[in-house]
Order: sequence, then structure tokens, then C-alpha cells
Amino acid sequence: MQVRHSSHSPMGDPSLMTRKKVTLTTLASMYRKGEPIAVLTAHDFPSAHVADAAGMDIILVGDSLAMVALGMPDTSEITLDDMILHCKSVARATSAAFIVGDLPMGSYEISPEQALASAIRLVKEGHVQAVKLEGGAEMAPTISKITRAGIPVLGHIGLTPQRQNALGGFRVQGKTVAGAQHVLQDALAVQEAGAFGMVVEAVPAEVAALITQKLSVPTIGIGAGNGCSGQVLVQVDMTGHFPPGRFLPKFVKQYGNVWAESLKAIETYKTEVKSRAYPAAEHTYPISKEVLEAFEATTSAEGGNHGKS
Ligand code: KIV
Repeated sequence: MQVRHSSHSPMGDPSLMTRKKVTLTTLASMYRKGEPIAVLTAHDFPSAHVADAAGMDIILVGDSLAMVALGMPDTSEITLDDMILHCKSVARATSAAFIVGDLPMGSYEISPEQALASAIRLVKEGHVQAVKLEGGAEMAPTISKITRAGIPVLGHIGLTPQRQNALGGFRVQGKTVAGAQHVLQDALAVQEAGAFGMVVEAVPAEVAALITQKLSVPTIGIGAGNGCSGQVLVQVDMTGHFPPGRFLPKFVKQYGNVWAESLKAIETYKTEVKSRAYPAAEHTYPISKEVLEAFEATTSAEGGNHGKS
């Protein structure tokens, strides 16, 4: 095995993972058996690597990465090129999970043709296996165009964050009879258009459960209760990879505290750098006494301490 004297080393070989590749057939079979589908977002190689290793069925390269990975104020700024870059890095890390990439705002609303062109780029350049797009009945012709070209589509109904301005913010959807009927009509239209499933976001649990029962494709809930066919969360939310005090929606369960772990490690590193406890002898490369003495002899004529006290 090659020994590398550099931190520029690969992050392990995802192909060494032994889990079987998840396909649309796998997902359909899970759905038929009533086995919940576990979905998590990832936005780069490390976050996809760990999600795949943990056994996620679907990894979603959601456009939420605009906010949680790129620090943008919302998802409207992120471009198709940005998404492709992130999808590529996720695909390099993922050997088993089915990868879905989000079509960002502006890349699919103008026409079904525009949407298909964008979906093709996400598959060809981003190496995803399916695309997700937001919207209900009004997006049916678009979903149909993409799926007829052989690209699987995951719908996204209920709260559609890309339309937060039109929705008056990040509001729970389907809370009135008319609202719930609207979400149901969207779900049926998205299914009819050929989507293999759909994310149902921020809808009362009972409404989402009823809609799930009316469908013959899986629903993936986020803030939509336990009656959906699967669940999705944003990885940084559920791993606690954010500073204290950040707002978290009610439906998020925080399973870890990555921020606290990282902070502790980095603060300890800083302390050890300042006290010269790091690097210790075991973190350095040896040199023979003879070579060192010979080297010192060549440098004895030169002065200066180069900043070291
Ligand atoms: O962008 C995203 O991460 C999503 C999930 C929240 C479903 O769409």
C-alpha cells in the first residue's frame, strides 16, 4: 500500500461498501411491504459518505444546501451549476443510496422543455439518479415531460420553500378543508404525471396520512407526521451541525451535536498550538543523527530564527 505523507489523501473508497445499490425497484418493493423509506440530505462528499454508510435509502441533494452549506439567505439564489457541483461530490461518495438532486428555482418553471434540459444536466453532469421539483397540479405537464424522457421525478408538495414569497413565508399547508383538499389534488396530479413519489412538507399529520392512503406511490414526509411512507430530514439539522440558538422547526429531532464536538476539537487544537503541545514527537518525521548534524553544519553560517522564539 502506498504511504502518503500528505493530508491530501482520499476519503476512503465508497465502492468498498457492501450494501446493494438502491434502485427504483428497491424503493417500490419497500413501499409495497410497508417498510419506511429513510431519506437524508447531503451536500458534499463527507456528508454523503456518512449518510450512505449509515444505510440511507435515498440521499437528497436538496437545494436547502444554499442556506446550510453556502450561507445564502434562502434557496432562490442557488443555480443549476451550483447544484451540479454539489451533486457530483455527493455521487462520488455514494455507493448504495439512490441519489435525488433538486432542480433549483429558475431551472424548471419556464417550460417543460426547460425543465427537461435541466434534469438531463443534473443526471449527465451531476450523476444523480432522479430529480426533485417543487409544485403540485400546475407542474404535472413538467413532471410528465421529464419522466417520459426516462428520468425519475420525486415531487414536492405542501410547503414548497422555493415559493415562500408567494406562500407568505414558511407556513404549514393543508390546515383548512379547502387547503387539505388542495394538497390532496396536488398529490394526485403529481402521481398521475408519473412521479415515483413525493415529498410532503409541513402538512398536518392526519392530512398527510390520509393523502398517503389515497396514493399508490410513496410519500416522504418532512413535518408531516408518521403516516407517510418515509421521512426526510436536512442532515445539518438532525446532526446538530450548527451553533447554539439557531432556529429549528418543530418537526426536527436533533440526534447529535456535531457543532459541540467540532468546537471542542478545534478549541483544543488551538490551545495545543498556542502551548506548543501540538505537534508532539509522534506527529513528526524522523531524521538520522548523522544527516541532521551534517545539515546543521551547512546552515551554521546562516542566521535568523524565522519567527520561532
Ligand atoms: O432542499 C431540501 O433539502 C428539501 C428537503 C427539506 C425535503 O427539499
